[in-house]
Amino acid sequence: MKTAIYPGTFDPITYGHIDIIERATNLFDSVIVAIAKNPAKQPLFTVAVRKKMIKNAIADLPNVQVDCFDGLIVDYAELKKAGVIIRGLRAISDFEYELQMALMNRRLKDRIVTVFLMPHEQYVYLNSSIVREVASLGGDVSHLVSPSVMKMLEKKFSSGNYKNKS
Ligand code: COA
Repeated sequence: MKTAIYPGTFDPITYGHIDIIERATNLFDSVIVAIAKNPAKQPLFTVAVRKKMIKNAIADLPNVQVDCFDGLIVDYAELKKAGVIIRGLRAISDFEYELQMALMNRRLKDRIVTVFLMPHEQYVYLNSSIVREVASLGGDVSHLVSPSVMKMLEKKFSSGNYKNKS
């Protein structure tokens, strides 16, 4: 059985991520969407909320699980007996960073392979920060995120729930 890990911060999950997950389910028996507890980022949503949003967004997809991890992605992949790490490549600008990560991960654990998938072109400009920013300023992001994520963004940015730190 071929298991692939799709790691990321998913703060929040967008249709661009879902597009990659869908493509991965066509290639692998099982896909684990793994939320990284990334100390370099200060996420808007807790891991528990991100997990819930992902579960709702991928409810219709077969053989997809949601989990979280800290530490090295290659150690987590090994723990889950996954031989593949999925990464999305949106634009040339992603390439250098992705190449560096893929080569470092291969240096760390040679048997784990990074597979790059291209999302639909309508999502190549997308990232979670831009979704958060537009939503925080009252813009419509309903074409970029699932209804359950929309609801959480609205809740977060509705009066009093969100304190801008600046
Ligand atoms: N659609 C929409 N947005 C996408 C996307 C897609 N298909 N693919 C990526 N993005 C967005 C993400 O939402 C993220 O947005 P943000 O920066 O505004 O939050 C941005 O593009 C960058 O994505 P990504 O490169 O996947 O970063 P990440 O923080 O989501 O994930 C980890 C990076 C967690 C996978 C990586 O740091 C990691 O593996 N960490 C574990 C520790 C480790 O092993 N380190 C050594 C690695 S060599």
